[in-house]
Amino acid sequence: MVSTELAEVRATALAAVEAAEDLAALEAVRVVWLGKKGKISRLMQRMGRLSADERPAFGRAVNELKGEVSGALATRRTALKRAEGAARLAAERIDVTLPGRPPRLGSLHPLTQTRREIESIFQRMGFAVERGPEVESDYYNFEALNLPPDHPARDMQDTFYVGPGRVLRTHTSSVQGRVMARREPPIQIIAPGRVYRRDSDNTHSPMFHQIEGLLVDREVSFGDLKGVLQSFINQIFGRPLPLRFRPSYFPFTEPSAEMDVECVMCGGSGCRVCGHTGWLEILGCGMVDPNVFDLAGYDTSRVSGFAFGLGIERIAMLKHAIPDLRLFFENDVRFLEQF
Ligand code: DAH
Repeated sequence: MVSTELAEVRATALAAVEAAEDLAALEAVRVVWLGKKGKISRLMQRMGRLSADERPAFGRAVNELKGEVSGALATRRTALKRAEGAARLAAERIDVTLPGRPPRLGSLHPLTQTRREIESIFQRMGFAVERGPEVESDYYNFEALNLPPDHPARDMQDTFYVGPGRVLRTHTSSVQGRVMARREPPIQIIAPGRVYRRDSDNTHSPMFHQIEGLLVDREVSFGDLKGVLQSFINQIFGRPLPLRFRPSYFPFTEPSAEMDVECVMCGGSGCRVCGHTGWLEILGCGMVDPNVFDLAGYDTSRVSGFAFGLGIERIAMLKHAIPDLRLFFENDVRFLEQF
């Protein structure tokens, strides 16, 4: 009777082991049968009610049963583990033949492109690139350029003062005095960089970019200035464009002029971009004022020179028909990636 019961327990337990679908279910089966209060462990409690000669055989039978069930559990566990591993591998399989996702390539900012283009045009004409600090002394930003402290023309530029005698440079003209202070003529340089003014609206940004030009040598004439600028304009706009010089005033040049090019949008017939004048103002320029040479310690009877200053944003806007200055500074990639 006892052996029939054990046989039944054995059959049910082994069937339960086989039926366990995953490791969690298998563990539950183990607890039910082999746990401390499991069905097989409880069989042992019957020993007390058996006669002395029945006990050894019963004990052995139960122990065998225990061994058999834990063997079956181990076998099943191994099989389930292998199956689960295989399932995970299948689920996590990486298709190495899929094409990769290439990182998006950036491009140079349109202002950088325009600056480099302007630089290389002037470099081909023999100008060397010089740089000066953006935090500048009052002296190089103003005084060395013939703008003494009480000069009314200082109001032409709304200056950021960053400390006593310290400004954010309002123009790249500040590099002129720095170069002349450490070198003797002949000098032929351009100075690109950021400049700052207290000004912000549709057409003005508190930070923008300029390129300054300075040429100092013997017998430099306004004709030399015109020739250099005409060549620059032809190259930057890719075709010869008519130029026009209007008399103007800058403290550091005498005579001074503003240079216009025929409107690149309408060809001179008049449009919204050129304010229906047919002309676009491109830069300021002139012959270096003798006072500037005096301040630099140059002998004005021996040298003369010309200077010019232009805005990089303005050139880039005209070259690419960009309608709004702010597009340069918002850095929206949908705008930037068009260049
Ligand atoms: N510094 C002037 C400005 O920021 C531009 C300029 C005008 C530069 C005439 C020059 C020049 O060198 O000769 O508006």
